[in-house]
Amino acid sequence: MNEDIEICQCNAILKSEIVKAIKEKGLKTADEVGEATTAGTVCGGCIPDIEEILKEVNG
Ligand code: FES
Repeated sequence: MNEDIEICQCNAILKSEIVKAIKEKGLKTADEVGEATTAGTVCGGCIPDIEEILKEVNG
């Protein structure tokens, strides 16, 4: 993935880490991504981005 960007600034979680967790663990919701990676668990500002990534990966 050449578009590796930091999605969650609070916890410094990269897009690649989120994509990997979604694929490896079959995550379906932003809540599950939060549990798996901690992304989205502080200010919540990145949750819309996480939802976009979920759509991208899960179709
Ligand atoms: S930017 Fe992800 S929780 Fe704040």
